[in-house]
Amino acid sequence: MPPAARAIGRVSGVGGRSLQCLRAPLGRQCTIQGRASLSTAARPIHGVRSQGQRSIGFGDSVGNFVGRRAFSATSAASHGHWEPPPPGKELYVTFVDKEGDEHKIAVNEGDNLLTIAQANDIEMEGACEGSCTCSTCHVIVKDEDMFDKIPEADDDENDMLDLAFGLTETSRLGCQIVMKPELNGLVVNLPAMTRNMQASDFAKRK
Ligand code: FES
Repeated sequence: MPPAARAIGRVSGVGGRSLQCLRAPLGRQCTIQGRASLSTAARPIHGVRSQGQRSIGFGDSVGNFVGRRAFSATSAASHGHWEPPPPGKELYVTFVDKEGDEHKIAVNEGDNLLTIAQANDIEMEGACEGSCTCSTCHVIVKDEDMFDKIPEADDDENDMLDLAFGLTETSRLGCQIVMKPELNGLVVNLPAMTRNMQASDFAKRK
């Protein structure tokens, strides 16, 4: 199988379910099929998500499916439903975009930064829609004290941060930062670049 064909598409027949490859360009499918044992060494380069299941498949660097593990689900608020906070309940977060412009937004407790950004036309891609399987929501927390108030990143988030461009000591994934009163006044910088495996892979295949 030529390398270009290995890492895209739909994996079917795994546990009897259809799995959508997160790297597949929209509308494209591949022919990878079958099942293999879970390898903890596998990187989530070829992630596949089971429709309706809280699990995600992983592949090795050449696109072979190697297993499945749980993925972090996001709240309903991260699926496009976002309401500004009611008067008196506001928390504030400021996004500093690539041009250095500041966007201060009133938000609700419980909102995550990806949802907030996308609902307010802040340029944050969120290629995996908050399932912690990409790094396109990478943000850099401006203030170290504020950074320390955010719950520590788990292994899944750290794995994805390893793939982020311009990683810093205060880097986090926006979809994993959930607003709470202690984070009122949070300021995050948006990095100049993000790594979108789908887009870059697709460009190579052209
Ligand atoms: Fe993919 Fe946050 S949107 S990890």
